[in-house]
Amino acid sequence: MANTDNHVIIVGAGATGLLIAQGLKKAGIRATVYERYTREEYEERSGDWTVALHWSIPYIEACLPPELFAKLKSAETNRWEEHDPHVANNIPLVNGRTGEIMAKMPMPSARRVVRGKLRDLLKTEIDIQYGSTLTDIQIDHPETKNSVTALFNGGDVVAKGNMLIGADGARSPTRSFLVDQDTGKLDTAKVMILNAFPKFTREQALFIRQKSHPIALLSPHPYQKTLLFATMVDVVDPEKPETWVFQFSLSIYTDEVPPTDEKERRHLFKAYLSTYCEPYRSVSQWLVDDIKVSGDKFHYWGNITPWNNHGGKISIAGDAAHPMLPFRAQGLNNAMEDAKLYVDAIKTFVYDGKDLKSCIDDYDKSSYSRGKLDINLSVDQMHAYGDWDAVMNGPLLRGGGYGKSH
Ligand SMILES: Cc1cc2nc3c(=O)[nH]c(=O)nc-3n(C[C@H](O)[C@H](O)[C@H](O)COP(=O)(O)OP(=O)(O)OC[C@H]3O[C@@H](n4cnc5c(N)ncnc54)[C@H](O)[C@@H]3O)c2cc1C
Ligand SMILES: *[C@@H]1O[C@H](CO)[C@@H](O)[C@H](O)[C@H]1NC(C)=O
Repeated sequence: MANTDNHVIIVGAGATGLLIAQGLKKAGIRATVYERYTREEYEERSGDWTVALHWSIPYIEACLPPELFAKLKSAETNRWEEHDPHVANNIPLVNGRTGEIMAKMPMPSARRVVRGKLRDLLKTEIDIQYGSTLTDIQIDHPETKNSVTALFNGGDVVAKGNMLIGADGARSPTRSFLVDQDTGKLDTAKVMILNAFPKFTREQALFIRQKSHPIALLSPHPYQKTLLFATMVDVVDPEKPETWVFQFSLSIYTDEVPPTDEKERRHLFKAYLSTYCEPYRSVSQWLVDDIKVSGDKFHYWGNITPWNNHGGKISIAGDAAHPMLPFRAQGLNNAMEDAKLYVDAIKTFVYDGKDLKSCIDDYDKSSYSRGKLDINLSVDQMHAYGDWDAVMNGPLLRGGGYGKSH
C-alpha cells in the first residue's frame, strides 16, 4: 500500500527539478518545487541558452505524460523543421581559419533545445513555490514527525516532508549540507567565454544560415587559442530571416576574467572573430553596438566525492550533483537520467516497501559515478580543444562522439 503521507521537497525549478516533479506526479507521489526567484525574475532569466539534448530523451519520455512529451519539439531551436538525421546527428568540427571540416562528431538523436523553452514545457501543471530560497535543512526535527524540514528565506517559508532532492544548480546549497565545505568547492576553468545572441538583416541571416550546420558547429582556431561555438537559438518566423536569433560563443583559453566593460568585451570578441573564416569574419563586422556581448567563466566540481544522503532523506541531482564543463554536451543529459533514476528510487520506496536508504544509495552511486566520469572528460575535452595538435585526439573524437560515456 502506498503511504499517502509521502512528500518530496524539490529544491530548484531548473530542468532537473521539474522533470523529477513530473515523474513523481505521474507516479502519484506528492511533491512541491521551491524556486529562489520570484516568478517574474525566473521568467526574465530564462535566457537564450541552448543545450544539446540527445541520449537522455528516453528518460524525459519516461517521466512525462505522453501529451507533454509529444510537445518536445516546441522547445527546439528550430521547431518548424525536421532535420535530416544524417546531417543533424553529425556535429562538424571545423578549422576556424579555413572552414575545412576536420571531423564529424556523432551525436545520436540530436536535438538542440532552448533552456527557457524546455523549462516552460516541463513546468506545465507543476506546483512551484517561487521566491523561496533554501537557507537551512533540518533532519528528524524532535518537535515534528517530519524527517526533513526545509527552511526558505531564513524560515519565512517552511516545507515538511520525508525526502528532499536538491536540484539547485552548480552552486547547490543542498550540496553544502551533504559534503564539507572544502570538498564541495568548485574549480574554475582556464577559459573565458564571450557570448552574443544577435539578430541580423534578412540578407545577413540568410548568408550565415546557408554556411551553417542545422544543429551546431564547433570551430577551434589553428593560430589562436580560441574555440567558436555557433548555433541557431530561435527561428521565430521561418519566413522572416530578420527574426532569427543566433548564438556565437567564443572560448578564449586564458586565466583572465572577462572585461567588466561591455565595449571592451565586444571589441575583444570582434577581434578574435575577425580572424575566422566565413561566415564568422562577416559576423564580426555585423556585430553592431546594440548587440550585447556577455562574459563568463566556467566552474566544475573537480574534487567530486560521494555525498552523505542522511539515510536517503536528502540527495542531489543534475548540476547540483555534478557541475561540469559544457565541452562534451553531457550536463543536461546526465541531469535527465538523474531525474528518471531518482523518481524510480522513490517509487521503489513508496510502492515496493524497500528501505529508503538502499533505494537512494543506488541512485547516488549512479549519479556520482556518471558525474565523476563526465566531469573528467569535460575537462580533458576543454584542454584538447585549446591545443591544435591535440584537438583530433580529445575524448570526443577518440570516444566516438557525444554518446553516453561509460
Ligand atoms: C554554457 C552552457 C552550455 C551547456 N551546454 C550543454 C549541452 O550542450 N548539453 C548538455 O547536456 N548540457 C549542457 N549544459 C549543461 C546544462 O545546461 C545543465 O546541466 C542543466 O541546465 C542543469 O539543469 P539543473 O536543473 O540541474 O540546474 P539549473 O538549470 O541551474 O537550475 C537550478 C535551479 O535552482 C534554483 N536555485 C538555486 N539555488 C536555490 C536555492 N537556494 N533555493 C531555491 N532554489 C534555488 C535556481 O534559481 C535554478 O532555477 C550547458 C551548460 C552551460 C552553462
Ligand atoms: C581524467 O582521467 C584520466 C584517466 O584516469 C587522467 O589521466 C586525467 O588526468 C583525468 N583528467 C582530469 C582533468 O582530472
